[in-house]
Amino acid sequence: MIKTERMIIVPDRKKDIMILLSGQGEAIPLFKVFMPESILESLKGVLFSGYIGEGPRVEDFERRLEPWVGNKNVLALNNGTAAIQLALRLADVGYGDEVISTPMTCTATNVPILAMGAKVVWADIDPWTGNIDHKDVAEKITSKTKAVIVVHWGGYPCELDELNKITQSRGIKLIEDACHAFGSEYQNGKIGSHSDFACFSFQAIKEMTTIDGGALVCKKKEDCERGRLLRWYGIDRKKNRKDFRCEDDIKEFGYKFHMNDVTAVIGIEQLKYVEDTINKHRMNASTYNKAFKNLRAIEPLRYSSDRLSSYWLYTLRVKKREKFMREMERCGIVVSQVHARNDKHTMFKEALANLPGVDEFASEHVCIPVGWWLSEDNVKYIIDTVVGYDCE
Ligand SMILES: Cc1ncc(COP(=O)(O)O)c(C=O)c1O
Repeated sequence: MIKTERMIIVPDRKKDIMILLSGQGEAIPLFKVFMPESILESLKGVLFSGYIGEGPRVEDFERRLEPWVGNKNVLALNNGTAAIQLALRLADVGYGDEVISTPMTCTATNVPILAMGAKVVWADIDPWTGNIDHKDVAEKITSKTKAVIVVHWGGYPCELDELNKITQSRGIKLIEDACHAFGSEYQNGKIGSHSDFACFSFQAIKEMTTIDGGALVCKKKEDCERGRLLRWYGIDRKKNRKDFRCEDDIKEFGYKFHMNDVTAVIGIEQLKYVEDTINKHRMNASTYNKAFKNLRAIEPLRYSSDRLSSYWLYTLRVKKREKFMREMERCGIVVSQVHARNDKHTMFKEALANLPGVDEFASEHVCIPVGWWLSEDNVKYIIDTVVGYDCE
């Protein structure tokens, strides 16, 4: 059972608006960190153990992640951005190569492409899921394409079968940015078990958090083994060395991307609660789906029943979004677009493309609170406020 620290009980909408406006109430947050008290005991154990770097707890965390990602080739890292960069490196993406990606995501999806010296090529998205359009991906492939990165918007999985067919038939690597999608499932398989690489984030506002952290999951064991070296400068930590930091020849340069035992312990403890957390997100989302079915100017995204979202985000498409956002704010409900389209940034100016699906989605999308911290009354209040919103 999850224990909330501060429940916001909102029995009466009008009364509550008054409370909020008079500064006595608290807004319903869009994100909230779940942190069980049991973490303190485990933390004490590691903090005073005399060893806090990458060690046995990281390995333990990796083993415990396996069932969650449907894969044994797991590398725990210091963040999700590192996971994406390491995946690109393992896919041998380098200077001048092209990587097809979506602009409708966190900038962390696409910055690593530039960091590898590669060129971003935008594919359009499905405006009713926020996910990359596999048909457009197929059209954007050239002889220079080395990899395709897809993002499971809000936790809802992309068309992985189609994307695998397209990439495998052309010898291109498929990288899933699954940073929204820990615990999501595609055709009964956990996200992490479908493509060449899946990248997870355990950053501070995710359903599963290690404060900062991430994981890279590889289809091939040999990629995982190479990644294990590259996450620590290219050095094999397990190999007996003659002297502490005086290693033998390093064959290939790597990064400092590894997780440490302190954050791993937080992850191990979080994993005990994450099923409850995700289930609560899903339950709230299902209540919203029913309540928002027949609204005029507000529509939920359109999801297919062959996959299961983690519902890290619950996204609506709303006409006159700015007015809606102001009204939600006035009623004490925190809402946000969460991510802005990446293609408008100067750093991506060379990739500019015509993307009607992104235009449609990015002009209307907005996320409302859906998480474990919502009481039944909160959910009811949010529904009443959204349904009662005057869109004229
Ligand atoms: C879609 C997406 N990709 C990548 C990242 C980067 O993850 P991290 O913050 O762990 O580096 C995030 C983080 O929020 C994200 O939402």
